[in-house]
Amino acid sequence: MIIGILKNTQPDSRVATTPEIVMKYGELGMTVFMEKDAGKAAGFPDDSYIKAGAIIKKSRAEILEKADVLIALWAPPVNELSEAKNKKIIITGYAPTKEILKAVCKTGTTFLALENLPRLSRVQDMDILSSQNNLGGYKAALLAIDSLNRAVPLMMTSAGTIPAAKALVLGAGVAGLQAIATLKRMGAEVWASDVRAAAKEQVESLGARFVDVDDKADFENAAGYASQTSPEYLLKQKERLTEQLKKTDILITTAWTGNKKAPLLVDADMVQNMPLNAVIVDIAEGNVERPTKRPDIVFIQDKNLPARVAHSASRFFARNVYKFIELYGGARFAYHPEDEIMKTTCLCFNGKITEKKEI
Ligand code: NAI
Repeated sequence: MIIGILKNTQPDSRVATTPEIVMKYGELGMTVFMEKDAGKAAGFPDDSYIKAGAIIKKSRAEILEKADVLIALWAPPVNELSEAKNKKIIITGYAPTKEILKAVCKTGTTFLALENLPRLSRVQDMDILSSQNNLGGYKAALLAIDSLNRAVPLMMTSAGTIPAAKALVLGAGVAGLQAIATLKRMGAEVWASDVRAAAKEQVESLGARFVDVDDKADFENAAGYASQTSPEYLLKQKERLTEQLKKTDILITTAWTGNKKAPLLVDADMVQNMPLNAVIVDIAEGNVERPTKRPDIVFIQDKNLPARVAHSASRFFARNVYKFIELYGGARFAYHPEDEIMKTTCLCFNGKITEKKEI
């Protein structure tokens, strides 16, 4: 069985597999075709893949033609897929838009997107959202620290003492907890909030303080995701956050409920009393309204922060996908339509759309 890895065509430096994992595919009896320089931007040169047993190909068309399983972060360009003759399995990290999916399916492929995996402990080693978003939270904290015009830790010097910067993290899931941990390591005073009551203990275990909006409320559904909050809660949250923002130098928002659209938590009025030159990093892309009345505020919204930690993110991604392929047969890898976990990842089967999740 041949695994094909193409160079990313998106503005994303990650690569779908690493030399360490090429070796492991070899142990499973699989051959890896890598496009020339596919790993270069992530810090993995062709030589390292060759040493691990991969075959480097200059021609993308040849990889598309011969690979049985194509692995990628994002769906490959549709025009290229339609040129590929054999029906193949495509495993991506992220699901494409509806339009791209329709076009990809017309090529008769079976398309699996690992971002759709349920976030269960038994599939944690394949959970690309956890591995990538962890790094996203880390990078969000670093970006915020770098953009702030003051030092983050408390500093006692012969010239006097300056206080630690104050940070607020909204959404204490995978990305949020890593952002908190990174900010704490840098010496910030950190507060955090979440609508799930269970998050309080996790926030406090990292040495941050929990901003309680309503200590009787707990908006967590059976799947462990946040559920819809009540209008009363929203009102209280707005008041509580407006107050907290007055002393917040760094705001990082990661609130998300499992759907594509992030809830708006901070509107343009709420940031009015934030300190001068405060920094906001909204990684959920939608938690914060652009602070148009406060041009001094540094406002960052970037959908793709794991790509800015491409080396580490590629290592995690490669391991996640390897675990998935190993679990479902290695060199005999096939799609099992009756398998519940596999079914959740499947967007189209032999060219027929099976997508269930809103994309
Ligand atoms: P997660 O599901 O682990 O965490 C989201 C957290 O937000 C949960 O703890 C949830 O309870 C909380 N939340 C939901 N609604 C809330 C509300 N109204 N108020 C306060 N908290 C609320 O998700 P994860 O993996 O941490 O990702 C979070 C978001 O950040 C997603 O939208 C994800 O796509 C995005 N993300 C973006 C990255 C980037 O590079 N821009 C990198 C990593 C994640």
